[in-house]
Amino acid sequence: MKLFDVYPINDIEIVKAEGSRVWDENGTEYLDLYGGHAVISIGHTHPHYVERLTNQLHKVGFYSNSVKISIQQELADKLGKVSGKEDFQLFLVNSGAEANENALKLASFYNNRKKVIAFTGAFHGRTSLAVSVTNNPKIVAPVNQTDNVIFLPFNDVEALENAFKEFGNEVSSVIVEGIQGVGGIREASTEFLRKIRFVCDEYNSVFIADSVQCGYGRTGKFYSHDYAGVEADIYSMAKGMGNGFPIGAISISPKLKPWHFMLGTTFGGNHLACAAALAVLEIVEQDNLLYNAEEVGNYLITELKKLPQIKEVRGRGLMIGIELPEELAHVKKELLFKHHIFTGEAKPNTIRLLPALNLTKADADIFLEAFSLELAPKPSKGDKELVQ
Ligand SMILES: Cc1ncc(COP(=O)(O)O)c(C=O)c1O
Repeated sequence: MKLFDVYPINDIEIVKAEGSRVWDENGTEYLDLYGGHAVISIGHTHPHYVERLTNQLHKVGFYSNSVKISIQQELADKLGKVSGKEDFQLFLVNSGAEANENALKLASFYNNRKKVIAFTGAFHGRTSLAVSVTNNPKIVAPVNQTDNVIFLPFNDVEALENAFKEFGNEVSSVIVEGIQGVGGIREASTEFLRKIRFVCDEYNSVFIADSVQCGYGRTGKFYSHDYAGVEADIYSMAKGMGNGFPIGAISISPKLKPWHFMLGTTFGGNHLACAAALAVLEIVEQDNLLYNAEEVGNYLITELKKLPQIKEVRGRGLMIGIELPEELAHVKKELLFKHHIFTGEAKPNTIRLLPALNLTKADADIFLEAFSLELAPKPSKGDKELVQ
């Protein structure tokens, strides 16, 4: 049987990982500033994480949501505390798309409406409803197409106001990333997020903060939307939540009330996933990783802004986009194959840094040095002859 070939891959097999380092089958060491796509939040194979998961596995790995699973409540208590949303409610799933799918569905149950407002550049996942609010027609199959979704220009306050004036009473929810990840590390402005809050309150629509990539402390605040001083009605999360163990969730405002069988999942909230998520939050809290993400992120952003060859540096904390001019499109590959540094990418020609939240300044420096070297103008043949 062949694998269904949907991923363009780098020919590297990772066989060992620790902290912000991974090793391939030849023993080559790499610095990981990609975190397996923003997933590795507390570093690879963190000892506390390994221990908590191993202990849980020896006790009970899975049982269905038909019985009491008190580790779910333990996770809810810890998440409420660390995220500053102790009065919110937790529903556990397995991925980011599933989190958004349930958020959109829950909003629609709440106000009995169908329309959703999403924005240009948005990525919310690949399941049916999540992909229909994702602004990329190439990944929307005909069966996912719907007239219920309205795309508005990102960060356009006037367009948002006008849309609500026109059909606000039909809008079930507005879904927005605090910082667009796939969209190229573009931050929603404070004014924009506040306006979303305002119109959602005015029209009883639900404000969904997609925090799958920009959440879980990556930007220095638990949810990046927190920077705007607004509270959403639902926060969706996944990626960094389980440090690689598949888990996602929605954190739900008390104004949204549940009823039995309204939402459901077989695997969501299983013992092992909860143990993984708890281990992550324990380390986030104990090692003050929100502070570290902000500190090391600010340092990286400040240093990167000094490099004249860069078109633009965007982002917050350890969610950083470095847009390069076309002629430097090769730099990402050089970082990987010459300097052995993993980074992510986004359009247009943007390198995405999504490392573990405990990245050290020393590791940031290793990247900065390699990166500066690759950006520096290479001596042309003529220059060489002059020197010789
Ligand atoms: C902002 C955002 N939302 C949702 C998703 C979907 O998450 P998953 O791939 O876990 O379904 C992603 C994944 O990249 C994302 O970046």
